[in-house]
Amino acid sequence: MASDKNKKSSSSENAMWGGRFSAGPDTIMEEINASIGFDQKMYAQDIEGSRAHAAMLHKQGILSVQDAENIDQGLSTILSEIEAGEFKFSRTLEDIHMNVENRLAELIGSAAGRLHTARSRNDQVALDFRMWVRDRVDASIVEIERLMVTLLAKAEIHAGTVMPGFTHLQTAQPVTFGHHCLAYVEMLARDKSRMEDARERMNECPLGAAALAGTGFPIDRYMTADALNFREPTRNSLDSVSDRDFALEFVSAASICATHLSRFAEEIVIWSTPQFNFVRMSDKFSTGSSIMPQKKNPDAAELVRGKVGRVNGSLIGLLTVMKGLPLTYSKDMQEDKEGVFDAADTLELCLAAMNGMIADMTINTDAMKAAAGSGYSTATDLADWLVREADLPFREAHHITGRAVALAEEKGCDLADLKLVDLQDINETITDAVYSVLTVEASVSSRVSFGGTAPSNVASQISYWRDRLKTA
Ligand code: ARG
Repeated sequence: MASDKNKKSSSSENAMWGGRFSAGPDTIMEEINASIGFDQKMYAQDIEGSRAHAAMLHKQGILSVQDAENIDQGLSTILSEIEAGEFKFSRTLEDIHMNVENRLAELIGSAAGRLHTARSRNDQVALDFRMWVRDRVDASIVEIERLMVTLLAKAEIHAGTVMPGFTHLQTAQPVTFGHHCLAYVEMLARDKSRMEDARERMNECPLGAAALAGTGFPIDRYMTADALNFREPTRNSLDSVSDRDFALEFVSAASICATHLSRFAEEIVIWSTPQFNFVRMSDKFSTGSSIMPQKKNPDAAELVRGKVGRVNGSLIGLLTVMKGLPLTYSKDMQEDKEGVFDAADTLELCLAAMNGMIADMTINTDAMKAAAGSGYSTATDLADWLVREADLPFREAHHITGRAVALAEEKGCDLADLKLVDLQDINETITDAVYSVLTVEASVSSRVSFGGTAPSNVASQISYWRDRLKTA
């Protein structure tokens, strides 16, 4: 195999730089060098950037009206060809930039060669990739918001649904399922804001930095920045062609978001086991087993939990590619794209899958409530009652409650089932009134501190987030 590949490529020298070369690349060179297999995804950005560049060159008197019109027409034809699936991408032409330019030359002749005036593939790829990432930031934000809305709807229905809150995955204190949903709303809101911050920083246009040093042509970088919806042009040509922070920031934000989703996915996996039985996944987001007819597996949740690995991998991959690269462009940087493309697809898919799963899942409120009351989950409420009613220091109240829990354990009953005399044996200040705080409903309703789990808090947090989303 390798010996076949070691043959010289049959193609002639490259039309884009052939002047200095007498032979075409080795087949292996062509294979390692080509990015068209993946960077064709950026065709729309490449064409949009070129059209803006040509219009600017014309306005600045660098390109004749005739050439500018032909270039624009040609680029629009190429866009339709690609969108219709009629464009023939060629590996010999290496990447999307040269594929488009070569086709332009076929369509309009030598004027195509004028498009590259005052530009290089270095600022071109920096631009295309930045616009591509910016689009996917926007798409991610839409998906994040959609999931937030779904969670708010669930939270509203279940503002008063009691479930166990866990620490160490051990029953800790009763909480409401609505409150639990809102915890993810908070995470997603931060994810959204990370995306928005990254977008703001990346929204500077590198076009016109040319190869690395800028250009002597009288270009108008503000005009292209504006045409391509950037806030302003980038300020340093060296940084413009070597910066990939925009991609790093996007994938970091994606990694954190995917991490959040994986945590929720894990909870869904746990909750949907027959042992927990807190939720029932819809058939639409489950699979069966080919051998065990009784099984219903939460595959979508497991995949969301697992796919975070790809996104994190992309982040580490890109950080590693960029590490130690001297200014400015190096071909290493062609390795910046595939991981980011994959991270964007993966994140959007996971957000959509999570959205579908949560919208469709059925909450087993009885099982949640039963579990919420088990494991002496209202022990803290007993301790708090002792602090409030008997004016005991919390540490002492904690100790007394511990003895009550031990007694209940011994008797094999819940705290609320202990007789008053038995409780008074432990501490004589305890009265009948204590029983009112030992139910799970009383427990959650009492937690009205700002950010606490009380149903009334859940309701006001839901309206807070609905307002925030409306004005977003
Ligand atoms: N395909 C290249 C990339 O993705 C485009 C830039 C090429 N620039 C260069 N100087 N060879 O990075």
